[in-house]
Amino acid sequence: MMIQSGVDEKRRSALKLATESGGMNPRLQEVLDEADKVIVYAGTPAPSVSYKGELHVGVDLGTAYTVLVVLDENMTPLAGAYQFAQVVREGVVFDYMGAISIVRKLKQQVEERIGRKIESAATAYPPGVPLAEVRATGNVLQGAGIECSRLVDEATAANTILQIDSGVVVDVGGGTTKLAVIEGGKVVYTADEPTGGTQFTLVVAGAMHIPFMDAEALKTNPAEQARLFPAVKAVMEKVATIVSRHVEAYHPKRIYLCGGSARFPGMDRVIEEVTGIETIIPGEPLFVTPIGIAMNNIAGEVAQLW
Ligand SMILES: Nc1ncnc2c1ncn2[C@@H]1O[C@H](COP(=O)(O)OP(=O)(O)OP(=O)(O)O)[C@@H](O)[C@H]1O
Ligand SMILES: [Mg+2]
Repeated sequence: MMIQSGVDEKRRSALKLATESGGMNPRLQEVLDEADKVIVYAGTPAPSVSYKGELHVGVDLGTAYTVLVVLDENMTPLAGAYQFAQVVREGVVFDYMGAISIVRKLKQQVEERIGRKIESAATAYPPGVPLAEVRATGNVLQGAGIECSRLVDEATAANTILQIDSGVVVDVGGGTTKLAVIEGGKVVYTADEPTGGTQFTLVVAGAMHIPFMDAEALKTNPAEQARLFPAVKAVMEKVATIVSRHVEAYHPKRIYLCGGSARFPGMDRVIEEVTGIETIIPGEPLFVTPIGIAMNNIAGEVAQLW
């Protein structure tokens, strides 16, 4: 299944403003634009890359998409691949062999493009998942022949690339909404709640009386989204209410929205209306967390998987 991507002009100017007012990675737009060009849906032909320098590799085992991204030594995306796969539920690997096989496949495709082996990668877990599950995530990498160099929580990974000084990073993925409150450049609070893109799809399936995968295709089709907006708005409001509840005590000035579900047009407006907090989508939201994960991979490091 292919999905549409792209960053519209409104988002671009919002990002420019946010960057100018300080407290965000000045290279963010450039990095996300490059990601949009070089990270392709699994099996899609993509040009090969010749690069001899240091690599930073991240694997994001998501509820909806598994993403493998390779960055160069300047943390600019070189190549990557992603695929829809239901191997993780709410941050917990439930199809271990399926997860290994998809990571292997993405690894092989990306290795063919870059003409070299991927030896090490970082991976991530939603904030607050039990240690045994965090370990399973690392073991999936090992099972796919990749040394797990580091395990980071997903909200912190997102801020590795965003480099926000203060505000809230909200990653609305397929299964869950992860958030991190940032103060003085440091993560001071994280949370993970089980509402995400899957709920959007279920609402569409219910409203249209169609199977889940048909609803998924409809929901991600830009031509259908305006018509579906009234149906999914309630789920957006639920995400916003969750965010409000978690950040209440911190009085943040801005919400930075990422995760694939933020691609649904109007999501930022609904979050802003309900929370009363300025909300921006800083570029292509699908690859923010995977790139942040890759930035945490330093060759030679080995994560302790207990
Ligand atoms: N163009 C689009 N419009 C709306 N939703 C989209 C679009 N593209 C992808 N999505 C949704 O984004 C979700 C996947 O996003 P993402 O890859 O961030 O989640 P994930 O990492 O797999 O899940 P999680 O982080 O919850 O484990 C899916 O629910 C998918 O339907
Ligand atoms: Mg995710």
